[in-house]
Amino acid sequence: MPTTVPLVVKTNEYGPLISPFSDRNKPRYNWYAFKHSYSGELVKKLIDEFNLGRNSWVLDPFCGGGTTLLACKEMGIYSEGFDILPFSVFLSNVKTRNYQPIILRRYLGRFYKKGFLSRKNIDLPDIKIIREAFSPNTKKELLCLKSKIDTIRNPKVRDFYMLGLLSILESVSNTSKSGGFLRIKKKTIINGEVTRQFLLKIEAMINDVGKFINDFKFPDVKVGAKISDSRVLKTKRKFDAIITSPPYPNRHDYTRIYGLELIVGFIKNHDELKKIRYNTLRSHVEAKKQFEANGYKKPRIIDALINKIRKAGLNNSQVPKMIEGYFEDMYLSLLRMKNCLKKNGKIALVVSNVRFGGINVPVDKILADIGEQVGLSTDAIFTARYRGNSAQQMQRFKRNPSRESVLIWRNN
Ligand SMILES: C[S@@+](CC[C@H](N)C(=O)[O-])C[C@H]1O[C@@H](n2cnc3c(N)ncnc32)[C@H](O)[C@@H]1O
Repeated sequence: MPTTVPLVVKTNEYGPLISPFSDRNKPRYNWYAFKHSYSGELVKKLIDEFNLGRNSWVLDPFCGGGTTLLACKEMGIYSEGFDILPFSVFLSNVKTRNYQPIILRRYLGRFYKKGFLSRKNIDLPDIKIIREAFSPNTKKELLCLKSKIDTIRNPKVRDFYMLGLLSILESVSNTSKSGGFLRIKKKTIINGEVTRQFLLKIEAMINDVGKFINDFKFPDVKVGAKISDSRVLKTKRKFDAIITSPPYPNRHDYTRIYGLELIVGFIKNHDELKKIRYNTLRSHVEAKKQFEANGYKKPRIIDALINKIRKAGLNNSQVPKMIEGYFEDMYLSLLRMKNCLKKNGKIALVVSNVRFGGINVPVDKILADIGEQVGLSTDAIFTARYRGNSAQQMQRFKRNPSRESVLIWRNN
């Protein structure tokens, strides 16, 4: 490690803010529970610490559930988000748009009407997870709702209703998002349940819009999300700050975890899904190398860690390659992030260390080092909290939690 990288600074302040738990009852934040989010309060605290004000611009190159964008909008700060998952971009946009409840309500009636629209030409892509996730009756109800949503001409309203549908998929399916995987979990879904849950969700979302109109002090604040790969991201403007959280190298594959949402809303066939999977950051073993990291100097600690992990025994031989690839991809992403920042602009990056074969990989310190390589200055690595390791690892290596940190850089 270079001597410029500071020691880990302990702090308790960020701990409770690092998970989305505190947003579970907050209007708009809770329209869809994106498991890999931090809280809006964390973003607001960082905005205060970075002394951002009206007319400041914030970037999130991994916008996920749209938390950074929504918190910025609440504080009257302009923001732009990017993500490789079409679902994340959609979610970020739908959560942050302005709506009029009266217009949203106009379309409710057609969903209360009994009877199915013709299912001609409408089906879900024939992918194994869909067959496992939905019973024929559930699928039929989902398709009926989807076809009714498709008849809404106003694109903002259509997206709003579509998010309502996507947000109930997990609970009406035989799946459960747990520990970074989409597990199969048998559930009994009675006839009519999908429509009942959908209507409850939409009613709650419309009520939230009403609440937000009062809360939203800055309706004209500019905000939006687009699809882009962080490793080749280019923006028209320079930003005052970046507040984000990249994937962690913990093998979680977002295209599987959010597979149902992607398949129901955004992709036409399995090949399209696989293409996104291969293009995600190499934080899981199925992602493939896409770009050369010219100029990258691999920190020496990486090979030493990989040797130790190999010796400790692995249940997946692709993990060393994944770890190497992850840091190369993060080098490219950090390079792009630096280029998008104004001079003296700040970056806050939430990241977790990981453990393989009982060996701790200090992701935060390695990224601090790589940040320095691209020309950023590390202000601090704040320890936010410690996370337990996977049940599998716990059995073999006992409980040995991994640090989750907030890394702060400055663009000199
Ligand atoms: C930890 S999540 C971000 C969570 C977000 N900050 C929030 O609070 O909701 C990481 C995101 O990185 C995205 N991602 C993965 N590979 C990417 C890439 N190459 N370029 C851009 N985004 C990528 C994933 O789709 C995921 O949404």
